[in-house]
Amino acid sequence: MNLVELEKWRYATKAMNDQKVSQENIDYILEAIQLAPTSSGIQPLEVFIIKGEELKNKIFSLSFNQTVVKDCSHLLVFTAWDNYTEARINEAFENMFEKRGARDERWDAYRQRIVDLYTNKPAEENFVHTARQAYIAFSFAIMAAAELGLDATPMEGFDSAALDELLDFKKRGLKSVTMLPIGYRAEDDWNLNMKKVRKDKEVLFTELD
Ligand SMILES: Cc1cc2nc3c(=O)[nH]c(=O)nc-3n(C[C@H](O)[C@H](O)[C@H](O)COP(=O)(O)O)c2cc1C
Repeated sequence: MNLVELEKWRYATKAMNDQKVSQENIDYILEAIQLAPTSSGIQPLEVFIIKGEELKNKIFSLSFNQTVVKDCSHLLVFTAWDNYTEARINEAFENMFEKRGARDERWDAYRQRIVDLYTNKPAEENFVHTARQAYIAFSFAIMAAAELGLDATPMEGFDSAALDELLDFKKRGLKSVTMLPIGYRAEDDWNLNMKKVRKDKEVLFTELD
């Protein structure tokens, strides 16, 4: 299936069947997340992979009792930096300099511009930006799962403050953004055969000359 066919195949799965996803498949999805583009390549996000039943049950109760959190195989929690700091930005650029084996003066000047830009903004505004980067990787994960024939439910429906508390994200300088339960659809999922409804193209797209 091509990308559009996969978009038609996938759907927001409301019930999964407890079947486990192989580590190989999870690794593929994680690599798709790792390779997702981010603004300036800073990757201000971290993803947590939750397999344990006990933890999934605790998160279920913070997720308006959405059962897919419990009956998925793996639950990915996407988090983003709570703020940009000079140290964090420098670390991202150092990683690039090191892996490319070169410290380029123009890149270094660019790094400094980015530091000056973000460190003068309030944390709340920076978190809006870091969270947007997490959403890009989130989209890639959804489609990587579909490519493997796996179901994945994009989720914002959870108490993020409570989840941050439960998983100690504040200590790590992170805030939760979205969750992605991954697994296999239950045959009797009520949402399985619902017609996919989207805005008409004429409403969504406007050509301008
Ligand atoms: C960012 C985001 C958050 C969502 N949060 C939830 C959620 O908490 N629970 C849920 O069942 N579906 C959630 N959805 C699924 C949407 O309702 C669904 O993607 C949309 O209605 C389109 O349907 P489809 O994904 O089946 O094509 C979310 C989707 C996105 C993209």
